[in-house]
Amino acid sequence: MFFWVSKPFVAMMMNKIRNLIRSQKAIINRRIVVDAWPVNLQMELTNRCNTQCIMCWRSFLDSSNQEMSLDLINKARQGFPFLYQLQPYLSGESLTYSAFSDFLDSINKDVRIFLTTNLQTLKDSHVKALKKKRGVINVSLDAASQEMYAKIRKGSFLRVRENIFRIKKETRFDIWLNMVIFKLNMKEVVDFLDFAGFVGAKTVVLYGLKFPEKEGLPEQNPDVCPLDREDALRLREIIRRKTYPFRILEFNNKITITPRFYNFYTLRRKIRPGNLDEIVQHGFRRIIGDKLLCDKPWKQLTIKCNGEVRVCCEQRKSVGDLNSESLSEIWNGGILRGIRQDIVSQRIPAGCEKCHFLRSAQNWVA
Ligand SMILES: C[S@@+](CC[C@H](N)C(=O)[O-])C[C@H]1O[C@@H](n2cnc3c(N)ncnc32)[C@H](O)[C@@H]1O
Ligand code: SF4
Repeated sequence: MFFWVSKPFVAMMMNKIRNLIRSQKAIINRRIVVDAWPVNLQMELTNRCNTQCIMCWRSFLDSSNQEMSLDLINKARQGFPFLYQLQPYLSGESLTYSAFSDFLDSINKDVRIFLTTNLQTLKDSHVKALKKKRGVINVSLDAASQEMYAKIRKGSFLRVRENIFRIKKETRFDIWLNMVIFKLNMKEVVDFLDFAGFVGAKTVVLYGLKFPEKEGLPEQNPDVCPLDREDALRLREIIRRKTYPFRILEFNNKITITPRFYNFYTLRRKIRPGNLDEIVQHGFRRIIGDKLLCDKPWKQLTIKCNGEVRVCCEQRKSVGDLNSESLSEIWNGGILRGIRQDIVSQRIPAGCEKCHFLRSAQNWVA
């Protein structure tokens, strides 16, 4: 069979692959200054949302609704030619971003898109733009019934189900489903996993409840309360009784339910083409004792809609401001160099103490 591939396309792909290899080399050689561009960018296009989920940390942040300005988007574009993956969300709901489809259209089609969304406000124009891309739509559901969904996410479970099937039918995106588990919805976990099998999800992500900005708030709402140890152990027993046709990943649960999670993040995975997505998404985060050895500062940046830059969504300390600095200045600036130095010296960097990965490892019970 003969495939015709244009020269500019080959050049572009070579650019990205060279960048990926350079970034891996920088990690392996523990370089503090990285001569590659970020392979993964997370961009908070808006922090606005169409709903207000009862457990969402977004309502505890003191920021007004904003969209990322065109000026900031253009500054971020400096890194686009080298990108392997783009995550166009952080807090807020990106499908409410006024120019979401135009933004997607402006991204090269070979960039993997990883979008976490409530998928309540999917429009024809979104589907049309998504058709030209590949990647993952990670749907936040938190429930397996209309009643529970309405209580938590204040929307229509059936509508979201329809939208999931639409994505599956009309685009090449993989579907992942995610659930934040707390006291109110823990009884629906098993049905949720069955639902994931029913819609053909590739991966299910189980999140523990957390309030990064305002710890202690759950006590104000008895429904939004994290699982205790007994709940988690019981849940683990129930989940392990069945084999599911998808992978289950867990973050920051009181105890880790699936041993696969621990292996997943601590074993070195071989660099094979099929593993590239995983390496970019989760990387070689390794947890030894209470030390977090993470490669994100060598390959990722997260840009908030106001221009504040962090390493990833777990990080609580700013590493730069895109309003006053360029992406390249931030990438090898003093703060990021300090974070890399901390990791190389096996210290947990300031701002990483509340990382999901670290907490999950600390909560691991064999
Ligand atoms: C803040 S939302 C933004 C993206 C989108 N609006 C959504 O709901 O998927 C990103 C993820 O954080 C999760 N999340 C929200 N509140 C949380 C909390 N208190 N603890 C843990 N995860 C939470 C959501 O379920 C979602 O999967
Ligand atoms: S849809 Fe997402 S951002 Fe909006 S309130 Fe729910 S969890 Fe938060």
